Amino acid sequence: MSDFKGALIGCGFFAVNQMQGWNDVKGAGIVAICDRDPERLKIVGDQFGVERRYTDAGQMFADGGFDFVDIATTVSSHRALVEMAAAHKVPAICQKPFAPTLADAKAMVAACKAAGIPLMIHENFRWQTPIQAVRKVLDTGAIGTPFWGRFSFRSGYDVFSGQPYLSEGKRFIIEDLGIHTLDIARYILGDVTSLTARTRRVNPRINGEDVATILLDHDNGATSIVDVSYATKQSIEPFPETLIEIDGTEGSIRLSQGYELQVTNTEGTVNTDVAPTLLSWASRPWHNIQESVFAIQQHWIDSLKAGSESSTSGTDNLKTFALVEAAYESADTKATIDIGTLLK
Ligand SMILES: NC(=O)c1ccc[n+]([C@@H]2O[C@H](COP(=O)([O-])OP(=O)(O)OC[C@H]3O[C@@H](n4cnc5c(N)ncnc54)[C@H](O)[C@@H]3O)[C@@H](O)[C@H]2O)c1
Repeated sequence: MSDFKGALIGCGFFAVNQMQGWNDVKGAGIVAICDRDPERLKIVGDQFGVERRYTDAGQMFADGGFDFVDIATTVSSHRALVEMAAAHKVPAICQKPFAPTLADAKAMVAACKAAGIPLMIHENFRWQTPIQAVRKVLDTGAIGTPFWGRFSFRSGYDVFSGQPYLSEGKRFIIEDLGIHTLDIARYILGDVTSLTARTRRVNPRINGEDVATILLDHDNGATSIVDVSYATKQSIEPFPETLIEIDGTEGSIRLSQGYELQVTNTEGTVNTDVAPTLLSWASRPWHNIQESVFAIQQHWIDSLKAGSESSTSGTDNLKTFALVEAAYESADTKATIDIGTLLK
C-alpha cells in the first residue's frame, strides 16, 4: 500500500517532535504544513524540507492532496480545525487538551462521526515504554486483581520557559499535565465512575493551579489517587516521569524514579529496567515523551491501514476529558462528581 500523506497544522514548540516522529513512522509522510505565524512556518518548513506551506488552514484544506491532518495547535483552535477536517472528510489527529469544554469535545466527536472520519486525540502518555510495561504486567495476571493504585507526577521543572502560555491560563496543571495522568489511570485501572479533587496554586507567578490531588472510583471497584504537582522540588528532578503504585490481590507493582519496574508476588520480586529508548532526534529528559510521540503516530497509521479505532479515539478521550472537567468542578464545589452524568 502506498504511503499515507499527512498535513500538519501548528508549527510551534511541540510540533517539532511530531515532525520528527513522522520522519520515523513507517507508511506516512508530511506533505503540507500550516501556521498562522510565517516565522514558525519557515523554521519548520526549512528544517523538514516541506515545500507546501500555508498560513491559512482553510486554504490548505481547499487545495487538499493529503489523507490525514495532524492538528498541533493550542486548545482554543481545536474545535474549528477538527470541524474543518470533518467538512473536508479528512481523518484527523488533534493534540490534547481535546477542547476548551466537554460540550466542544462532544460536538467534535459528533462532527467526525457524521462525516465518517476517524478522530484520534494525541494522548501520547499511555504509549510511553514504562506505562506499556505496567499494563503488560497487569495483563499477565501476575498481581491478581488490582484494587488500589497511585499515579503520581511531582516536579519542579520549569515548563514555562518553553510553553509561556502555561503560566497565563486560569487553568493549568489538571488541564495540561493531569489530563495525561488521568488518562494513564483509566488505561491501567479502567473507566472511572466518580471523582473528588483538591487543588492549589503554590507558584505566585502563574494564574492557574499547580498542585492537584484527585481520588478516583473505578468501574471495577478499584480506588486510585492521581496526584500532580509543578511545585515540588526534589534532590533528583524526576521530570517527566509518571510514577505508579498498584496493589493487587496476588501482589504489587511499583514503577519508580529512574524507570525501575518492580513486581512482587508469591514467587518473589522481579526488577526490570523499563527506560525508554533515546531516539536519534530525542534529548533528555524529554526522550520518554518523544518516544511516545513516535509510538502514537505509528499507531494512527497502523489503525488507518487496518480500518480499526485508535486507542485514544475521540470517543475514548471524551472519558478522559470528562475527568478534567469533573476535577475542576469538584475542586470548586468540594463535591464528589458523577462521571456518567457528565458524559450523557
Ligand atoms: N502530548 C504532549 O506530550 C504535549 C506536550 C507539549 C504540548 N502539547 C500540546 O500541544 C499543543 C501545542 O503546544 P505548543 O507548546 O507547541 O504551542 P505553541 O504555541 O508553541 O504552538 C502552537 C502553534 O500553532 C499555531 N496556531 C494556532 N492556531 C492556529 C490556527 N488556527 N491555524 C494555524 N496555526 C495556528 C501558532 O501560531 C503556534 O505556532 C497544546 O495543545 C499543548 O497542550 C502536548
